[in-house]
Amino acid sequence: MTNILLTGARGQLGTRIETLARSAGLAIAAFDSSQWDIADLGAVERIMSSNDVTPNSVVINCAAYTAVDAAESDEAVATRVNAVGPGNLADACARVGARLIHVSTDYVFPGDAHTPYESDAPTGPSTVYGRTKLAGEEAVRESGAASAIVRTAWVYSGEAGDFVGTMRRLEAEREFVDVVDDQIGSPTYSLDLAAGLLELAARPFTGSTTLHATNAGQASWFDLARAVFEEIGADPNRVRPCSSAQFVRPAPRPAYSVLSGHAWAAAGLSPLRPWREALHDALGRSQFGRSAAGG
Ligand SMILES: NC(=O)c1ccc[n+]([C@@H]2O[C@H](COP(=O)([O-])OP(=O)(O)OC[C@H]3O[C@@H](n4cnc5c(N)ncnc54)[C@H](OP(=O)(O)O)[C@@H]3O)[C@@H](O)[C@H]2O)c1
Repeated sequence: MTNILLTGARGQLGTRIETLARSAGLAIAAFDSSQWDIADLGAVERIMSSNDVTPNSVVINCAAYTAVDAAESDEAVATRVNAVGPGNLADACARVGARLIHVSTDYVFPGDAHTPYESDAPTGPSTVYGRTKLAGEEAVRESGAASAIVRTAWVYSGEAGDFVGTMRRLEAEREFVDVVDDQIGSPTYSLDLAAGLLELAARPFTGSTTLHATNAGQASWFDLARAVFEEIGADPNRVRPCSSAQFVRPAPRPAYSVLSGHAWAAAGLSPLRPWREALHDALGRSQFGRSAAGG
């Protein structure tokens, strides 16, 4: 049986992967940042050698420096986690013949396209976060490990702290919420992504491949916020459109970063369902959702 080693296990995605894997009876060892600092070469060697890592093992790397704005003034730390860490993991996997699934981001692209980015489209990040994540991808590719780099985008769980959870909270606090309508992407439910990554983990793969995994379809943040309001029975007209120029942040956000799922489907993996369907499910399950609140 495949055994999985999971990094970044207390993060949004890592938490869902561990939960799903355990409920499916998979063998998984999950490590948070205090147990396994992926940028510490000694820790990588120690954990790989003490966890019976064999060619049948797969490491899923969910560890990352994800504070996109903070990274603009914290490049050294972002590089350590997003570039050095994945390189360490990939080199260690290459040495023992284990497979590596490395999660990456739409921010490796310039974000100025008008049609979905294919997985082999030219990259061109415009933020420190994007540049460090791209450096991580390159380190994984160069390692010689059997690796799948999986880019995703706009991940939410519908709980406190993420965009969907934040919209739910703001609905309760404010009469109107202003949300940008000039950034387009693919909202992605963390549980759907976790299931997709576990499907991939069960596959044999060799060489290095780059795939995209998001829920299907596209939306603006404004569309997503309105959909959240609709799902929780609030008037979606309380969400008002505004432009990115009204919300200037340290790191520029991509105007269009929809990721094509062609390579994922061509690899025989199950396409993730439409984002609107996934959102409905997410809000039904979340601690804020109707089923949790009202039974
Ligand atoms: N969330 C999104 O919308 C989104 C979009 C595109 C791509 N992604 C990618 O998806 C992956 C998972 O993201 P996420 O949303 O789950 O992020 P997250 O919630 O921020 O989780 C990242 C985890 O990495 C851990 N970490 C940080 N530095 C570490 C280190 N040196 N060694 C080991 N662990 C470390 C963090 O632990 P501490 O909190 O203890 O530091 C945190 O638990 C990342 O690769 C991210 O780039 C996310």
